[in-house]
Amino acid sequence: MDAFSLLKADHRKVEQLFAQLESANGKQKLQVFEQIRTELELHTHIEEKIFYPALEEPEETHDLTLEAYEEHDVVKKLLKELGRAKTANDEWEAQAKVLQENVEHHVEEEENELFPKAESALGEEEIEALGEQMEAEKARKQRGSASKRSSGKSAKKSASKAATRSTAAKRTRTSKKSSKKTSSKSSGSKRSGKSAAKKR
Ligand SMILES: [Fe+2]
Repeated sequence: MDAFSLLKADHRKVEQLFAQLESANGKQKLQVFEQIRTELELHTHIEEKIFYPALEEPEETHDLTLEAYEEHDVVKKLLKELGRAKTANDEWEAQAKVLQENVEHHVEEEENELFPKAESALGEEEIEALGEQMEAEKARKQRGSASKRSSGKSAKKSASKAATRSTAAKRTRTSKKSSKKTSSKSSGSKRSGKSAAKKR
């Protein structure tokens, strides 16, 4: 699956969950929220690990990508705070609404601005490859959390084995790429430099 189809499918799923959250009541709200949290954590993880690093380097996607990282940070903070609640009171609902609005804004910006620019910056083949990598990472993470739930220690072992396998696979892929692509690896420090500058 190409990167855009994968990410858009995630976006639609989260939109549905937010609609469910609106109509849910009492304890149900917290249950739906947990689903939203799981989805968003997985989604931000694969984007930050695979998609955004590829978009930091090209000039046309650089600024939007840095903005996207910042938006993810806001979403993560809100998820953490909302996750602490024992009951969904009015304040919780207000904060959940802010989360929804943040996510909606972020999704809109990605689909309408970042994705079209990413397509012209990276090309179809790269978009397809990134999609496959994200799909694999998502499956790996989901396997990891499923086995962690069912059988404590041994699950951890197999999850770390899977991680080793996928790192090895990634290494093989990365080594095939041109030096232009590998240069995006160093962009992590560039990002924190820029966001640090922003805060000043
Ligand atoms: Fe995102």
